[in-house]
Amino acid sequence: MKYILITLAFALGVMNVQAQAQPTDLIPAPAEYSVSPGCISSKEMAGLREKVRISPKSLLRHLKGRKLEDWQLKSAYLLELGKKGVKIVAADEEGVFYARQTLKMMAALDSSVAYCTILDWPRFPYRGVMLDESRHFQGKDFVLKQLEMMALLKMNRFHFHLVDNPGWRVQIDAYPRLTNLTAWRPQAFFWDWEKNEIGGPFVEEGTPGAYGGYYTKQDIADILSFAKERFIEVIPEIEMPGHNYETRYAFPELACSLPNGGKDPWELCPGKESTFEFLEKVLLEVFDMFPSKYIHIGGDEARKNNWKLCPDCQARMKAEGLKSAEELQSYMIRRMERFAHEHGKRIIGWDEILQGGLAPDATVMSWHGIDAGLQAVKEGHDVIFTPTHYYYLDYHQDPAQFRAVGRHVPLEKVYSFEPMAKDISQADAHHVLGVQGNLWTEHVQDAWHAEMMLYPRVFAIAETGWSQAEKKDWPDFERRASVLSAEARKWGYTVYPPNSQQ
Ligand code: ACM
Ligand code: ZN
Repeated sequence: MKYILITLAFALGVMNVQAQAQPTDLIPAPAEYSVSPGCISSKEMAGLREKVRISPKSLLRHLKGRKLEDWQLKSAYLLELGKKGVKIVAADEEGVFYARQTLKMMAALDSSVAYCTILDWPRFPYRGVMLDESRHFQGKDFVLKQLEMMALLKMNRFHFHLVDNPGWRVQIDAYPRLTNLTAWRPQAFFWDWEKNEIGGPFVEEGTPGAYGGYYTKQDIADILSFAKERFIEVIPEIEMPGHNYETRYAFPELACSLPNGGKDPWELCPGKESTFEFLEKVLLEVFDMFPSKYIHIGGDEARKNNWKLCPDCQARMKAEGLKSAEELQSYMIRRMERFAHEHGKRIIGWDEILQGGLAPDATVMSWHGIDAGLQAVKEGHDVIFTPTHYYYLDYHQDPAQFRAVGRHVPLEKVYSFEPMAKDISQADAHHVLGVQGNLWTEHVQDAWHAEMMLYPRVFAIAETGWSQAEKKDWPDFERRASVLSAEARKWGYTVYPPNSQQ
């Protein structure tokens, strides 16, 4: 009887291995994966003996002449899972971390895991998610939960959209009014607050029934330390010169010298020195908070009409020899770039920063499709692709889905985006830093809804950012995404289609 049971267990083990041998359920798909005979139950994986070797030379030996860039080597790893336990070889702690994330995902997704060897490295250095904290305030616990998922997916950049028209969400000691006042509004739902593209009022912190919130410096420090342990860089965004309704509400003197600051309610006045003094003081505190070498300065959707009428803007244009409102915006961005450089930082801006001439060292976030990104690459600039039709996660996944922007961006569409367009030459390829999904929160009212917009689409962005192009395979990804979605739901994430309506 005992013999029969052992034989049966062995036969099941072999069947299991064969059922799961190829391909793995991992997202993102690893560069190279091969199975060996045998398997281990996922429960046993927690107690496995782990042998870790951090040695660039050893990793290079395993890579056998494959040519990787230095940044790829840092993240690369060899993982061998066998009878004796796990062996990890990496050039850096980062590679060890990714190897462990691979093990964690394998153990989570399958009840038994085939012995295997994985050699893996990322395709792009920038694999990001952007979260809009202004229109709807998600808060620290939500952010930590999403960072955990990002880390599991080997994503490494969190773009923190901290300020925008409907709310300022980060403590700035020099200007407490930004968070005492413009982090709070009477209406929770963005569309109840903003009517016809004009924002509503803000109310003092502590007003009964006020909706809002902001990150204290301690909150930011907590998020940064959580992110750092997971090799995620947090890039803050401080919008300028548009998307500043809230700033003007707190400090009307930063608007143009026109009745009510001008017809357009969003822009700061780049004609006034006081605008630069304000922004520089804010940035100094932001630089102190965030160690990232990047600061995102926004730059999108400034309408610029006020500037054409404002005497201060006109005087600035004359003094600086600027011929258009676009050139006035570029003057401002270049000046902010110089300030950022003085403090050891580089700027990222939305693709409108190309319009009046690009700041010398700026990285462009290409969101109006990909053309702006291609132009920036040709001009020798780094680019991150976040094209609306593929990577705007506020667009809906299903035509019947309530509360989302009208365009249809299902999982397959997200997965289909290829960042390395054919007309990018080999020599320019290094300017394509990578990809990012953007969750704007106009329609979001709670964490349930926010996560439903993120997942499973973020899985697809993670795979495009990490996996080698030849490893991408939609039918197989669709299968793996459904395995990971089921598991993520068990961990408490809302994944589209959700199990229940809220
Ligand atoms: C943007 O969607 N305005 C960058
Ligand atoms: Zn002005």
